[in-house]
Amino acid sequence: MTSERKATLIIEGREPVEFPILTPVHGNDCIDIRTLGAKTGLFTYDSGFLSTASCSSTITFIDGDKGELLYRGYPIEQLAEKCEFLDVAYLLRNGELPDAEQKKTFVNIIKTHTMIHEQMARFYQGFRRDAHPMAVMVGVVGALSAFYHEAEDFSDATQRSINFNRIVAKLPTIVAMAYKYSMGEPFMYPRNDLPYTANFMHMMFGTPCEKYEPNPVLVHALDTIFTLHADHEQNASTSTVRLAGSSGANPYACISAGIGCLWGPAHGGANEACLKMLEEIGDVSRVPEYIKRAKDKNDPFKLMGFGHRVYKNFDPRAKLMRKICSNVLQELGLENDRLFKLALELERIALEDEYFVEKKLYPNVDFYSGIVQKAMGIPTSMFTCIFALARTVGWMAQWEEMITDSEQKIGRPRQLYVGAPRRDVPPIDQR
Ligand code: ACO
Repeated sequence: MTSERKATLIIEGREPVEFPILTPVHGNDCIDIRTLGAKTGLFTYDSGFLSTASCSSTITFIDGDKGELLYRGYPIEQLAEKCEFLDVAYLLRNGELPDAEQKKTFVNIIKTHTMIHEQMARFYQGFRRDAHPMAVMVGVVGALSAFYHEAEDFSDATQRSINFNRIVAKLPTIVAMAYKYSMGEPFMYPRNDLPYTANFMHMMFGTPCEKYEPNPVLVHALDTIFTLHADHEQNASTSTVRLAGSSGANPYACISAGIGCLWGPAHGGANEACLKMLEEIGDVSRVPEYIKRAKDKNDPFKLMGFGHRVYKNFDPRAKLMRKICSNVLQELGLENDRLFKLALELERIALEDEYFVEKKLYPNVDFYSGIVQKAMGIPTSMFTCIFALARTVGWMAQWEEMITDSEQKIGRPRQLYVGAPRRDVPPIDQR
């Protein structure tokens, strides 16, 4: 980051004020306005962070115009093709891919920390059986903070490493238990002889009654889905984790806050919302009606799985997910699946439509991920939990980067107050 160039702010009737321009490795230059308030008494107004970098980061970079996503500099396409999810987890946290020895050690640590405390397993019984699994996730992951107090010693690098490994190892168990609880089936204990993603499928789909053999094509597809969702710059949930963590809160409580944010349909809940939308449309013949609704300013309906704040050309994850989708449907003999055909038709019509072209609205990763997961037998309400499982890796890496950043301050945005001016409380008979 250099700051040789300056930006000059001219405010009528005042002396011009200069601010450094920071040049990143990739991406837009940033005007460093941290001293703006002190120098001018003014704040900036940027609701929704449309033009504001909230931090500096070395983890992930997105070029929305090129449709490029890099984790620690590596293109997502290469990582999806050449690496497993645990390689990516190691990379995101440590900055480099593991060598063979580092991978062996890391995989072994993760494998041997997959069980959760039995008391925690009983914690599930307190939830209504019909609770949304994301509500259960918010509660159970938050409750990790009650089980591991020592996690709060952030100054200790070893402790931070344990925090990361522990949550990456336990998340599949927590997600699978949320599913089993909703189904009324017994919890399946982890099998440490299986690789990470195969073990997750065993805990999701196995029962004590018969041996479950995960299908390698589906394991590979799910592992790639994890990789594609592992991190995504300063999105809403990651920013939530950073903001919550900036006060020094317990990291598991911060991840729980991230899960809460991810749940929303404008974010990670979009794949669930997308599948519900496809079910509602029901038939190819009704696609034009829904496209019309999506374009109507007076109708709140949006095409779920379309559009992105950053990608204004295409979402590279969507491209990879489309391929995974077709592989999985072929493996399962579902090539003529009604919803997949409907999705392709919706995609075709929307991509040709002037409204979507003009606004640069393309399918995002969630457009296809719901179809893949449904084909694999994962119920709709679990989709965002799977997303949370993968994104926890990115959240923890970003949390650690934030907490060890020497420039880190508690996140405390300013506001543009537009409420009632100062006034006195009137007596009750004059209100
Ligand atoms: N369908 C119809 N119109 C849309 C859609 C959509 N899916 N997305 C955006 N638009 C329109 C908006 O109405 C707006 O129109 P206007 O300029 O006439 O007011 C314009 O396109 C720009 O959209 P914004 O909402 O301002 O874009 P923003 O960057 O704030 O939002 C978002 C991005 C939230 C992803 C939005 O596109 C959306 O809600 N999409 C559907 C939900 C979805 O798929 N979310 C998943 C995101 S990916 C992820 O979280 C992994």
